[in-house]
Amino acid sequence: MPDCTIAPMWDAGTLPPPSLPHKEFIKGVSNIQNGHGRRVGLLATRINELAGLGLDQDIIQLAGELHDTGKVLTGRDILHAPRPLTPEEKGVIRKHPLLGLGVLQWYEHEFPREVMDAALLHHERWDGTGYPLGLKGAHIPLWVQVISVADTIDACLSKRNYKHSWTPEAVRKILQQEAGRAFEPKLALLCATHLDDLLEVWNADYAWEKMGNKLPDNLHSN
Ligand SMILES: [Fe+2]
Ligand SMILES: [Fe+2]
Repeated sequence: MPDCTIAPMWDAGTLPPPSLPHKEFIKGVSNIQNGHGRRVGLLATRINELAGLGLDQDIIQLAGELHDTGKVLTGRDILHAPRPLTPEEKGVIRKHPLLGLGVLQWYEHEFPREVMDAALLHHERWDGTGYPLGLKGAHIPLWVQVISVADTIDACLSKRNYKHSWTPEAVRKILQQEAGRAFEPKLALLCATHLDDLLEVWNADYAWEKMGNKLPDNLHSN
């Protein structure tokens, strides 16, 4: 079994070995950007429950954890830049959905179809102006629609090197504004209505980090 303590820095543009144990791969990816994937998984499972969609909770969780897999190949200087990105750097970021699909296919373990779709399609928008394919409306799979909303909620709430944490009110507003634009309208409005519930899920994970539960340094993004 490979020793994970000598795994290369994933977010420095180097892939982990394809034989890295399944659990370690998932942990490492879901912890990129301070646990973003992990929280997207948790939020997505709660949205699935609130909306009564009946999607498999384990698969939704995994799809959330691995949606940003492509970022293991995005340089740390870009991922953690403490300033707005240049157009060239934005172009690099926009490659991560396709790269994510590539990494998941290259990796020796099998992942469900839903996970592959989430990695490739989570930046599509309901109005068809997203990337990489420009899929529109119901052509975007339902589980990807859920991951997309959860992704935005965590990205807005999280403090990143280049931005402050948004207030819940600002997050609620963006969900309402983007209903039918970035997101499936009913799903976005449901999340706006139940934002307090989703915040509880989100805060519980942050508390987990504050309790000192840390992953090994070589699996942590900063
Ligand atoms: Fe992403
Ligand atoms: Fe994301």
